Amino acid sequence: MAMKLKKSVMLNLETLTKRLHPRPVKYFDSVASTQDIAFDWLREGALSGAVVVADEQVSGRGRRGRGWSTPPGTAIAMSVILRPDIDVLPQITMLGALAIAEMLDELGLADVAIKWPNDVLLNGRKVSGVLPEAVWEGDKLSGVSLGMGINVRVDFTGSELESTAISIEFALGKTVKRVDIVAAVLERINAYKLGSPELFAAWKARLHTIGQPVSVMHQGESVTGLAEHVDTDGALLIRRENGEVVRLVAGDVAP
Ligand code: BTN
Repeated sequence: MAMKLKKSVMLNLETLTKRLHPRPVKYFDSVASTQDIAFDWLREGALSGAVVVADEQVSGRGRRGRGWSTPPGTAIAMSVILRPDIDVLPQITMLGALAIAEMLDELGLADVAIKWPNDVLLNGRKVSGVLPEAVWEGDKLSGVSLGMGINVRVDFTGSELESTAISIEFALGKTVKRVDIVAAVLERINAYKLGSPELFAAWKARLHTIGQPVSVMHQGESVTGLAEHVDTDGALLIRRENGEVVRLVAGDVAP
């Protein structure tokens, strides 16, 4: 369904730069992937906190080699450059998902949760995905691009994602300005210190996966059992029926 959008809800560099000042911002009407732009910028010395935003991505990347669709005028594709210490790397994923969940709270949305490891769910459907990717110089960490895709008014009707994906405006029943959403997510990112117990506790409290029977696809194998616990590195601990505990750092939880 084609939607005619008011100019005030369109993204542009001027509005983003003003709103996010003094944060360095790059904006693109259309780009292959904001992650690639962020990698280049990171290598050129971008400051921690610099952000790349695009209205459309034509080769957006999702987790585990999948694609991520960002049709023009309907979503947010953003990549935040961070320069963390290497020991807090696992917490970057938590930070992204948590910041998005808290932005949704601020919009007044009630049914917001995180599905391990980093899908943000609204009314039980995926509204956002997070993709942290690190850039290395040999064995030295140069930085991380924290990629976040947020469905704002993507219409999933009739698509294969209809029963599993959702957009903010469909749940909220009104139009939101994407610049406000970008600003709110960045504010929530700033609110937490990587490596802090507060960040871990807030992320864990939002995980709807804990206590559930799960099947997790990991390296082509399905691990089935009770999702018992997460550790401070974000790994999921699954107790199999035979009592064995399996620790997974990544995977896809079914359904
Ligand atoms: C997932 O599979 O759930 C993660 C999706 C991450 C998508 C975002 S959109 C902005 C950034 N650029 C990309 O190419 N991917 C991430």
